[in-house]
Formats: sequence, structure tokens, C-alpha cells
Amino acid sequence: MKVLVVGGAGYIGSHTVRECRRSGIEPVVFDNFSTGNRESVAGVEVIEGDLLDPRNLRSAFENNTFDAVFHFAASASVPESVQKPELYYHNNVAGSLNLVHAMLEAGVERLVFSSTAATYGDPEEVPMPETHPTRPVNPYGASKLLVERMLSDICEKHPLRYIALRYFNAAGADLSGDIGEDHADEGHLIPLIFYTALGKRKIFKIFGTDYDTPDGSCIRDFVHVTDIAKAHLLALEVMDEHPNQAINLGSSTGYSVREVIEESQRVVGDLKIAVEEEARREGDPPVLVASSDRARTVLGWKPQLSELPMILETAWRWHRGHPNGYAGSGKRTAENEKSTELFGDIAARLGHVSDEDVVRALERQKEEVDIGHAHKLLGMHMLEMGLLSTSQLIEILKYYENR
Ligand SMILES: NC(=O)c1ccc[n+]([C@@H]2O[C@H](COP(=O)([O-])OP(=O)(O)OC[C@H]3O[C@@H](n4cnc5c(N)ncnc54)[C@H](O)[C@@H]3O)[C@@H](O)[C@H]2O)c1
Repeated sequence: MKVLVVGGAGYIGSHTVRECRRSGIEPVVFDNFSTGNRESVAGVEVIEGDLLDPRNLRSAFENNTFDAVFHFAASASVPESVQKPELYYHNNVAGSLNLVHAMLEAGVERLVFSSTAATYGDPEEVPMPETHPTRPVNPYGASKLLVERMLSDICEKHPLRYIALRYFNAAGADLSGDIGEDHADEGHLIPLIFYTALGKRKIFKIFGTDYDTPDGSCIRDFVHVTDIAKAHLLALEVMDEHPNQAINLGSSTGYSVREVIEESQRVVGDLKIAVEEEARREGDPPVLVASSDRARTVLGWKPQLSELPMILETAWRWHRGHPNGYAGSGKRTAENEKSTELFGDIAARLGHVSDEDVVRALERQKEEVDIGHAHKLLGMHMLEMGLLSTSQLIEILKYYENR
């Protein structure tokens, strides 16, 4: 199966590209690199192009036969959308319409669209189900909701099917530690906390400490980027049976900003995360938590890595190894070659798995590499084989990092 991954060089797109390769799906990235990074998709076929230029899209579809499209490309900063709403409607809505046109012309019938919890606006019930009213409070959320509406109307009249995945807070990084979140104008909580630990920022600001929540700070639902990536593959599998709907992707567990800082401090050890309290920001609801019932029943999705400690450990592994993001990539390749051997060794030494388990996991990894699937950290195989719990995996990763 061949999938066009539009916006595949971005944070969530590149992790989905990685999961495609691990599952034997051939990804082709289409990206204008406005916020994406070439290094995040090294070794993958890339078409440099812009959604806003229909000629770029047409030639991508003319030169390839795709079974489906994953559409991640968007402008995705809430504050920027308030400053430049026209940019958001242009890139997100007009860009998506161009893509749908090109798909209809080329006869590609399956689309997974990256939507967002920002389509809901202020929560009226928590956790939020997909049936919650959609009253976005900023142009970013409104632009994504418009695309959902557009897809719903178009798919009624044409042989096109879609699933819109409404992500809550995407976070964490691939277990390998070699791809992660790297936005020039970073606005997300967890990278900002780790930038403070690394001394790249002087202070981490908590906006609002007087909310009606147990510790006064906002509560959010963090979902691991690899779990999001895997949900895209599941969406493709079920799309013919369950087409044309929106599905939340969240862990269904809320953590407050203070809890995230506290847990991050534990993860970074002796490094200091300096924190300052600020007034509330306009438009930040106190609590945003997803109901993930539909994702579980329709997609059969079960997040494996979305517990906060795992999210933070993997994010830290990426940031610590790449304090300058992709600008500092490339030097760990030789080291990575030894990773599998070392990882198995540490897992066995800690007593979490037996030597036989390591051999079984290595065999499974080799089988996947032999059938052309990309390398996956041995720990992920062990987790999937039920040999390790997530907390044991975290412990091994820590030893591995500090060896
Ligand atoms: N990160 C989150 O927590 C989150 C939450 C909810 C929804 N989303 C949605 O998920 C998607 C991916 O988010 P992300 O955090 O990976 O963002 P990102 O900025 O890292 O990735 C977006 C990618 O799209 C590309 N792109 C943008 N406009 C383009 C255009 N006109 N033509 C071609 N390529 C273009 C960028 O270069 C980039 O590689 C976005 O649609 C975003 O709205 C993200």
C-alpha cells in the first residue's frame, strides 16, 4: 500500500511516516517545509510542493498511484491564527480543498484528516465526546471545523471517504530518540518545559494559577505522538466500514500544568526548571480532556505510550539528544547501530526479561527488517509482545541513556 503523507515532514507527520514504514506501508511525503524538517524523513521519498499550488498536487498524483492520503499539512498555532486569520483560512481551508480536488481527479478515495480538539471550543462536559457542540473560539479551530464540514458534504456526493482525527495535546517522541518535536516558534507545553531545563529559555511561564482545578492550573489531555500515528493506520483499516466521521484522539486522562512540571523535574534530575506564575491567557479553558470511547470502539485503538511518564521520558530523550532540534542531527548514527544489542542487555540485567525473551524479541525484530520494515527499538517489540510494562520500559530507557 502506498500513502501520500501531506505535511509528512512535520512533527506528527514524520512519526506517522515512521509507523507506516514499520508496518510495511510505503509513504511518500508532500511538504513545503514551512514548518517541517527534511531530516525527520531521511530515507523517505519526498515531493517538495505546496498545497496552495494545484499544479504541485496534480503532478504528485500523476506521477504516483496512491491508495490513500494522510493530511497533516496546516498552519497550527492558536495565537498566530488570532493575529493572522486570513492565513489560517487560506492554508488550512483552501489548501485542503485543493487537496480534495486533486484526490477526486486522481480517483484516490481515502483520506485521514488531522483535526483538533480546538473544534469544540469551551467544554460543556468533560470528558468531551465527539457529539459535544462545536463552537471554536479561535480561527485555527474554526478553519479545521470548516474542513470537516467540507469533507462531510463532498463525501456525500463523491466516492471519497474520510476520517477526521481530532487530536488533543500531541506530545512525546519516537522511542528511537532520533525524531521528535522541533518547531521554530514553539508554543507547546512540554518542549517549552524541557527548553527551560536545557537553558535555552530562562523561565517557564504558567498562565493562570487560579482556575477551578485541584491545583489552580489548567488541565490537559496529552497523547503520545506514536499512539496518534498508529491511529492513522487503524483509520485506514476501518475506513470502508466506518467512513465519514470525526474521532477524538486523547488519553482520557487529564494532567495539570503543575503536575507536568513536577513530573518533568523528576525526569531531568538535577537540571533546573525555573517557573514563573502569570495571569490567565484569554481563551484557555480550565479543563480539556477527551472521551476516547469512539476511538476504542471504531478504530480498536488502545494507546500504549500515552501515560505521562512515558510521554516525558521519550520527549526528554529527544530534546536532550538534540538540544538544537534537527539542526544538530546526524552524529548519533554509529551509536544507534549498537542500540539494539545494548538495550536487550540492559533489559535482561535489570531482570525485566530473560535472555530467551531478548532472543525472541530480536528474532521478531529481524523478521520485520527482513520483510522490508524499518528498524524499531527493541523495547517497542518487547512492549508489544507483552514482555515489558511501560514503567519497566521507562526504567530501561533511563539506564540506556545514562550508561
Ligand atoms: N501538535 C498538536 O498537538 C496538534 C493537536 C491537534 C491537531 N494538530 C494538527 O495536526 C497536524 C500536524 O501538526 P504538527 O504539530 O505535526 O504540525 P507541524 O507544523 O509540525 O507540521 C505541519 C507540516 O505541514 C507542512 N505544511 C504546512 N502548510 C503546507 C502547505 N501549504 N503545503 C505543504 N505542506 C505544508 C509543514 O511544512 C509541516 O511539515 C496539523 O494539521 C495540526 O493542526 C496538531
